[in-house]
Amino acid sequence: MGSFGIKVVENNLATVKKKYQVDIVLAQAENVTFGKGISIKDFYRLKSLGIDGFTAGNHIYHYKEINSLIDSNDHMIVGLANYGFQKKYKILVTPSGNILFFSLLGQIVGKDAGIITENPLKIADEILTLIKNDHSIKAIIVNFHGDYSSEKVIIGHYLDGRVQAVIGDHWHVPTNDARILPGGTAHITDVGMCGSLDSSLGVKSNVIIDRWLTGHKTKNILENDGKWQFNAVNISLDEDYKVNYIQSINLKG
Ligand SMILES: [Fe+2]
Repeated sequence: MGSFGIKVVENNLATVKKKYQVDIVLAQAENVTFGKGISIKDFYRLKSLGIDGFTAGNHIYHYKEINSLIDSNDHMIVGLANYGFQKKYKILVTPSGNILFFSLLGQIVGKDAGIITENPLKIADEILTLIKNDHSIKAIIVNFHGDYSSEKVIIGHYLDGRVQAVIGDHWHVPTNDARILPGGTAHITDVGMCGSLDSSLGVKSNVIIDRWLTGHKTKNILENDGKWQFNAVNISLDEDYKVNYIQSINLKG
């Protein structure tokens, strides 16, 4: 979330990668540049910090320039699979096999953002049908960017046993329910964010309190000082690409 979030990633990612022996990092990109969207410059900055693939949310198209990267097979950033006509997924080529990933937007947050989405369950089915004979794909990671907890939980059960992981986000607040579902899929309702800790999801608290008290429309001002948080999940796959475990990483300082 914003430049504070980039700083938090800069200060923590290398240590986390080393500690958990991480091979591949995926990160949500929709709130990077001044809290909305991601510029091409910030894409390369985060990539250079060790992020291999970037997922999407309701603000992902804020900087139009990013569309050229989303449209290209060479850049590991996805748009929303259930919105628009862009590529629905990306394939990350790794030494341990190809990993397919995509982002779905929940229909509640879509409606709030004025984005007409297609049904995420049906789009997930379409993608899985499309790639079912591609044996080079060894793992599938689904990012679900949604608002209702019921949506965020149920999509995990819907895809359970068909993909390696369904990772929820958009709340910026991590949930304490990371687990392997009965069919073997790793799931968390919300992974949380990287950025300011003492804030309203990265925005200065007093801005939000004033807005709530007065009802006035005001601009978000990001919190760039104070305590930080780094939230993630670590997912381990065995040699057969089955999920060994999912664990939350929640650092503060
Ligand atoms: Fe969002």
